Amino acid sequence: MQAYRASILHLLEDPTKSAAAVAFHADGLLLVEDGHVVACGDYAGLSELVGETPVEDLSGKLITPGFIDTHIHFPQVDIIAAHGAQLLDWLEQHTFPAEAAFADPGHAAEAARFFVDELLRNGTTTALVFGSVHKGSVEALFREALARDMRLIAGKALMDRNAPEGLTDTVETSRADMESLIADWHGKGRLGYAVTPRFAISCSDDQLTMAGEVLAAHPGVWMQTHLAENPREIAETAALFPDAADYLDVYDRHGLVGPRSVFAHCVHLRGEAFGRLAAAGSAIAFCPTSNLFLGSGLFPLDEACAHGVKVGIGTDVGAGTTFSILHTLGEAYKVGQLRGTALDPFHALYLATLGGARALDLGDKIGNLAPGKEADFLVLDLAATPLLARRLSGDRSLENRLFALTVLADDRVVERTYLAGVLRHTR
Ligand code: GUN
Ligand code: ZN
Repeated sequence: MQAYRASILHLLEDPTKSAAAVAFHADGLLLVEDGHVVACGDYAGLSELVGETPVEDLSGKLITPGFIDTHIHFPQVDIIAAHGAQLLDWLEQHTFPAEAAFADPGHAAEAARFFVDELLRNGTTTALVFGSVHKGSVEALFREALARDMRLIAGKALMDRNAPEGLTDTVETSRADMESLIADWHGKGRLGYAVTPRFAISCSDDQLTMAGEVLAAHPGVWMQTHLAENPREIAETAALFPDAADYLDVYDRHGLVGPRSVFAHCVHLRGEAFGRLAAAGSAIAFCPTSNLFLGSGLFPLDEACAHGVKVGIGTDVGAGTTFSILHTLGEAYKVGQLRGTALDPFHALYLATLGGARALDLGDKIGNLAPGKEADFLVLDLAATPLLARRLSGDRSLENRLFALTVLADDRVVERTYLAGVLRHTR
């Protein structure tokens, strides 16, 4: 058994729905055994469970659950912060050339190592990840995640049209690639496969039909795609699918809208479509830094939540501008400000932890430090920079300190990252 004494903060429920959602232990104890949480609470109440186990004293630090990134692109690490274009031009000018390089297994392997290290450096312990069109990109990523016993879900991008030569697949090759990736990797360690149509513009009707068939044939496999991100993208989608009632219907009529489906962005969706996503049990990945960076728009989080849609937070690197989920929460607050709604700090932390877990249909396994959960957790140093030390010591309210942390934080606050009880990153 392992025992850690520190302040502990996690969410037991959605704080917008439950008054008892926030669990904070100023002097807390976390007990871990065989990769799972045994107990978590006040030190005074749990200390008799410790027995002979040495207690590591981390007083002054804050333990939280690992963060969950519900939308990120592995082959875009090298084009983060590319100047000058909105979505469709950005894809052509920056993204597709960068992704083409992942045809080379050596490049994919090197980038996968960097990518997984960068997730852990930022405290991200689970991610739902887009690969490139190349099967080998996803294999490289799975290899790195498996070596660290990380809970990670990924899929190869499906794109059989409207992409440069060398970066397209076909219905037949993509079906074969997915079947082999699912057979080799889905359920291995803590890995999962996601059927990954890039977006409606890049997939023919036949390829979306095939994607729906593969999804139906493999219960437990996830689905991820993009939805209603940018006005020009929405108009082009409508022109390509004239029979569909709307953008969401393009995916729905191909059997791609279900309880393990995650739709990135949804910036331009409104009431009735949120209701359809909620009814299907599908989730949205809210990606504020990406939506601001590409000028896509302001996601109406309050409206999505009012309709009961599950929402997680996504960095969307490389359109997103940081790997830090904490920093992404600070940007989510600013998006809310521009819409006249202030995101509550505990709601923000929920999106990054238990809410993200539920968005991935993994709420029974990860997302907080309740007994039985997988022991993916962080040790945060709230004095990691002089400014943080000054700001966070000068405010006694937990809510205000958490808020300031999200606005000011970056990877420097993540002192340690544990995956299934094993230390995998130390600053
Ligand atoms: N839509 C289709 N592909 C992409 C992508 O790579 N990034 C973002 N942000 N949107 C997309
Ligand atoms: Zn994306």
